[in-house]
Amino acid sequence: MQVDIQLIPSSAPAGLLLNRAIVVIDVLRATTVMVQALSQGAVEIIPVATVEEAFEQVKRYPAGTTLLGGERGSRRIEGFDLGNSPREYTAERVGGKRLILTTTNGTKAFHLVSSGKEILVGSFLNMEATAERCVELDMDLLVFPSGDGGGFSLEDTVCGGMLIDRILRRAKKPITLTDASHSARILYQRFENDLVEAFHLSSHGRDLVRLGLGDDLPYCAQIDISRLVPVFSEDVIRISKSA
Ligand code: MLT
Repeated sequence: MQVDIQLIPSSAPAGLLLNRAIVVIDVLRATTVMVQALSQGAVEIIPVATVEEAFEQVKRYPAGTTLLGGERGSRRIEGFDLGNSPREYTAERVGGKRLILTTTNGTKAFHLVSSGKEILVGSFLNMEATAERCVELDMDLLVFPSGDGGGFSLEDTVCGGMLIDRILRRAKKPITLTDASHSARILYQRFENDLVEAFHLSSHGRDLVRLGLGDDLPYCAQIDISRLVPVFSEDVIRISKSA
């Protein structure tokens, strides 16, 4: 099994992903929101790239069944029910509901890797469960940080590095790491005792603090509070492919 990480997000030739598992990570904050929402009883999440698409999609479902969530510039979008803070996604708000989510980087990343064989949602919240699932799958893996405006993201790479570290600790079979995977793991080891420090150094973390959303940082740094490993399949994110 080879474990690679795509340090700069970009679309990959379809053929390259066909036999790989992919773990998409946008730890500040889209994939954390997804894990949180499904853990609180949301039935499914439809990640869409644009605000217009979100307003179009919501019309397809009966009133009262579906919520609009997400952000632009990290703020709630006008006319949406929820922003992109995982703290908003409580059982009272999202239990039993479908979510249509659009965020600047995270929801787009799923469409960049949609030809992958198995596409999982990763975050610190569901770290160990995700590592276990990757080992069980026993197929080549691409960790896919969503990045920041198409560029490198410190916080997503640290999260990806932790996933790689956990996979190595769990695996019973030999794992081959690429140079990128070694680098992400080493970066994670620098911050393993203080993940929030990495968030505070990252440009997106600093933006969130500046916008008064600093409480999301320790929230998103919680490790292993969920056992869910959501799957993206046929444009929808659910607890499992067959749900
Ligand atoms: C994104 O998808 O770019 C992020 O989740 C932005 C945010 O933190 O709201």
